[in-house]
Amino acid sequence: MSKALAGYRILDFTHVQSGPTCTQLLAWFGADVIKVERAGEGDATRGQLRDIAGADSLYFTMLNHNKRSVTIDTKKPQGKAVLERLIAGCDVLVENFAPGALDRMGFGWERIHALNPRMVVASVKGFGPGKYELCKVYENVAQCAGGSASTTGFDDGPPMVTGAQIGDSGTGLHLALGILAALLQRHQSGRGQKVLAPMQDAVLNLCRVKLRDQQRLERTGTMHEYPQYPDGEFGEAVPRAGNASGGGQPGAILRCKGWETDPNAYIYFITQAAVWPAVCKVIGEPNWIDDEAYATPAARLLHLKPIFARIERWTMTRTKFEAMDILNQLDIPCGPILSMKELAEEPSLRASGTVVEVDHPVRGKYLTVGNPIKLSDSPTEVTRSPLLGEHTDEVLSQFGFSPAQIDALRAERVI
Ligand code: COA
Repeated sequence: MSKALAGYRILDFTHVQSGPTCTQLLAWFGADVIKVERAGEGDATRGQLRDIAGADSLYFTMLNHNKRSVTIDTKKPQGKAVLERLIAGCDVLVENFAPGALDRMGFGWERIHALNPRMVVASVKGFGPGKYELCKVYENVAQCAGGSASTTGFDDGPPMVTGAQIGDSGTGLHLALGILAALLQRHQSGRGQKVLAPMQDAVLNLCRVKLRDQQRLERTGTMHEYPQYPDGEFGEAVPRAGNASGGGQPGAILRCKGWETDPNAYIYFITQAAVWPAVCKVIGEPNWIDDEAYATPAARLLHLKPIFARIERWTMTRTKFEAMDILNQLDIPCGPILSMKELAEEPSLRASGTVVEVDHPVRGKYLTVGNPIKLSDSPTEVTRSPLLGEHTDEVLSQFGFSPAQIDALRAERVI
C-alpha cells in the first residue's frame, strides 16, 4: 500500500531528540528522510547512554527509524557543494542546530531559498525571537521556561519536570504539523517557507490550561478545584496542583492493594458528577448521595480531601486492575498507574503497533514506540535506524554523483 508522504524528500539535519522526533514521524508517514551527519561522529546520541558497547544507543535508534544516513562534512567546500545538490533535490530541510549554526555553515534561509525556492526550511529552536533567542536549550530547560515546571509538583515542594518529553518530542510534533501545513500551502503558492517551532512556545501551548487558570486566579483570587482550596492560600501565580485534575471533575491518585511494596500500585480516580451515586455505593457510603455536604459538585469541592481519603480506603482493598474492572463497569472514569514494564508487556499496544520489536544488525532485538498516529490508508512499518553513513553511496549516486566522484569525496574525508 502506498504511503501518505511517498515522494517527499526530507533533508534531515536534526540531532538529539526534538528534531529527530519530527523527521521520524515524517518517515513513518512515508517520506524519504535523508539524515545528514558529520563523518566519523554522527548524531551525538549514537554514543550517549549506551547499553551495549559499540552499538548505537537506544536513545539514537528509538528516534531515527525509517531514515537513511549520509555522512558529509558540510564545513568543507566540497561538502557544501554536495549539500547544495541535496538541497536542490529535496522538499524540506529540517534542523535543530543551536541558533545561527546553519548561517555559519553558509546555508541561511536566503541561500537555501535561492538554491531551491520550493524548499520548506523547518527549525526547532529553544526560544523564539526575544531576549533568550540565542540560548542553547535542552528538554528540561524548555519545561522550566514554558510553564510546565512551575505548575508541576506539590504545593510544598520545588518545581518539577515531567517524564513526558514535552519540550523535545512535544516540539517535534508541533514542527511536523508546521511542515505539513507549509507543504500544503506550497501546492497553491509554489513557494517554500520557513517553519519555526520554539520549544518554549510548544511547552506553553501544552500548558495552556495553566494560562487559563492564571487569568481565573487574577480575576477571582481563588480556584475551587485546586488542592489549596478551601484551607490553603493562593498567591499571585498559578500554584502547583499535585495530582488534582485540571478540569471541572475532581480527581486524585489513590493507593491500591500492594502499594507498600509496589511503587505503581495506584489508580487515578475521577469523581465525575454524573456517576457520583455509583461512587458512593461502591465505596460503601450510600448516604453521601443525598447528604447536603456531598450531594452537589460545589459542595464536594469543600470536602475533596476527606472524600478521596474515604475512596482510598476502598481502593486499598483492591489491586489497581481489580479496581479498574469494578469501576469501569459502573462507568466511573479511572486509570491504572502503569509502569514502563507493564506498558512494554501490554498485548494490545503490541497488537496496535504502538510498541514494536525491531531487529538491529549490531544491537539485536529491542523494543520501541511505533507511530502513535494511525492512518487507515497509510500503515506504518517501523524499520531499524541506519548505521552511520550507511546510505552515503546510495544517496549520492541517486543525486547524480558518479562512483569516481564518490571515491574522491571519500579520499578527501568529505563523506
Ligand atoms: N558537518 C560539519 N559540521 C556540522 C555538521 C556536519 N555534517 N553537522 C553539524 N555541524 C556543526 C554545526 O555547523 C555546528 O557548528 P558551529 O557551532 O561551528 O556553527 C556544530 O556542528 C554543533 O551544532 P550545535 O547545534 O551547536 O550542537 P551542540 O551540541 O553544541 O548543541 C543543542 C546542542 C541541542 C543544545 C543545540 O543544537 C540547540 O540548542 N538546538 C536547538 C534547540 C534544540 O533542538 N534542543 C533540543 C535538543 S533535543
